[in-house]
Amino acid sequence: MSLIEVRDEFRRSLNNLYSVNEIDFYFKSVLRSCLDIDPIDIALRPNLEVEKNQMEILDKILLELSEEKPLQYIIGEMSFRSVELNVNPLVLIPRPETEELVGWVLEDYEHLERETNLVDFGTGSGCIAISLKKEQALFSVLAVDLDESILELVKENAKKNRVQIQTLQADMNSLDQLEMEVEVIVSNPPYIVPNEKEEMKKNVLAFEPHQALFVPKEDPLKYYRHILIFAQHQLKSKGRIYFEINPNYLNELEGLILSFSNYTVKKRLDIFGKARMLRIEKQ
Ligand SMILES: C[S@@+](CC[C@H](N)C(=O)[O-])C[C@H]1O[C@@H](n2cnc3c(N)ncnc32)[C@H](O)[C@@H]1O
Repeated sequence: MSLIEVRDEFRRSLNNLYSVNEIDFYFKSVLRSCLDIDPIDIALRPNLEVEKNQMEILDKILLELSEEKPLQYIIGEMSFRSVELNVNPLVLIPRPETEELVGWVLEDYEHLERETNLVDFGTGSGCIAISLKKEQALFSVLAVDLDESILELVKENAKKNRVQIQTLQADMNSLDQLEMEVEVIVSNPPYIVPNEKEEMKKNVLAFEPHQALFVPKEDPLKYYRHILIFAQHQLKSKGRIYFEINPNYLNELEGLILSFSNYTVKKRLDIFGKARMLRIEKQ
């Protein structure tokens, strides 16, 4: 088959699931990442013959896309701000809202003059930890997650982006056992309650790790509470916490934060206009 025929086959097979623009974007990404073919060849060399082994790869990918597997898991990599990350189904696919959270931290610490300790709780792919280190070299970063296999990916991603960060396997439910002095805490913890599943897309529910997404409905703020308990003793005076949050729990979370201490709390909306980020500053 020629390149243009394969592109048309992609459009035909996927048109009940995705728009033409999405399909073309997927096709170009797959050519670039999996076959080392420059997508410009669709226009310049439409009759380029796709070889048998390349067709086998494309057929497998077409099947995965028709099952709604996210493209990022299929090609195994994605961009996040200034970094290129490997991703796999153990970790959440980083979201644009989280890029905004990182942007807020960087704005506040743009003029750092000395090394500053920062912890990222629930690091996943390491997107927050690695991009912060890449864009502000004076951060001394610790990335925390529950599973060693996730931290292996974080180390791979740090190496890929030539940054040095520390990793720690720890459970956010038992942070009282952690002793360290911290100046900045950043976290995008699991925050979706099970009854929000109905509004979620199949590709998220079927493929992304539920450990990264869900919290019990009886205790939706549990990770925030554990981090706030940790911060009572370990966050230095004038230190800050940056949270990505579930907009549906904004008021409850603000109440919880203020029940701990006389923190200064600031809210920020994401590009979709939703209250998605909080900054909490210690006196
Ligand atoms: C919403 S994801 C965020 C991942 C990444 N920081 C991001 O922004 O894309 C939450 C992360 O918390 C981790 N996690 C869930 N429960 C945890 C626990 N009890 N202790 C430590 N990490 C946990 C998950 O493995 C997942 O990587």
